[in-house]
Amino acid sequence: MHMHMQMGRDLWLFLAIASLLITGLAAGGENWNILKYQKKKHMQSAVLLGDHNGNNNDNLKKYCESWRMNVELNNIRDFDVVPQECIDHIGRYMTSSQYKSDSQRAMEESSLYLSSHFCNFKGDGKDAWIFDVDDTLLSTLPYFKKHQFGGEKLNVTCLEGWMRETKAPALEHTLQLYHEIRGKGIKIFLISSRREPLRDATVDNLIKVGYHGWTSLVLRGLEDEYKEVQSYKAEARKRLVEEGYRIWGIIGDQWSSFDGLPAAKRTFKLPNSLYYVS
Ligand SMILES: *[C@@H]1O[C@H](CO)[C@@H](O)[C@H](O)[C@H]1NC(C)=O
Repeated sequence: MHMHMQMGRDLWLFLAIASLLITGLAAGGENWNILKYQKKKHMQSAVLLGDHNGNNNDNLKKYCESWRMNVELNNIRDFDVVPQECIDHIGRYMTSSQYKSDSQRAMEESSLYLSSHFCNFKGDGKDAWIFDVDDTLLSTLPYFKKHQFGGEKLNVTCLEGWMRETKAPALEHTLQLYHEIRGKGIKIFLISSRREPLRDATVDNLIKVGYHGWTSLVLRGLEDEYKEVQSYKAEARKRLVEEGYRIWGIIGDQWSSFDGLPAAKRTFKLPNSLYYVS
């Protein structure tokens, strides 16, 4: 009697599992897999609830990498902060050898362009090249390491305070290319969204880490603070073109450094998913 009941229970359990599996297979097709399914469910709640501790979570990683990629593609614009659940991912990328390798590749492509037949420099002193300052020549990474890799809203007063300390390191691959460009007799213009009061600190910091010999450093004056950075930078290029300069290229980490007219012949974008300047 007891044996019979036991068998009955086992049979029910067997039938229940079998029907679950069959339903699952029917619903999910041949790729249905209960482990994957549970992982996916966990992932969705992780993304929705902003749980960024799921380090080993493949889907969260994909989600955040897509976010980062779409920032670089300029599909995602005007973000104020890095999404909470992606702070770890962005922090890991920005401190990784991949970030260095990506930056190096961008500089190698600039170098290739400079040595190509497309660039027939006249050598009349009117060949020009433009660089951004922050996260192009100098890295703000030490600041953002202390501020959740862009996961907290930017405090400009605080960031400018850090800039005044003149401790920003150089981005090594940009530094190399900077001197390569100088060596070709091309005039270098630095057009930055930093404000005019930071001029001394900016010059000090640039020289300290190995930059010198630029033709001019353009910073945002009071009247420029009311403009979009993109218009301010386009106006600075317009002045150069009016002075007869040919702008061969721009290297920057923000799309607002390239957009608008007059355009440069080529632009080279460095990765930056810590903040967005429009
Ligand atoms: C921004 O930073 C400054 C200086 O560190 C601080 O005094 C101020 O309270 C901060 N502002 C906000 C909104 O957090």
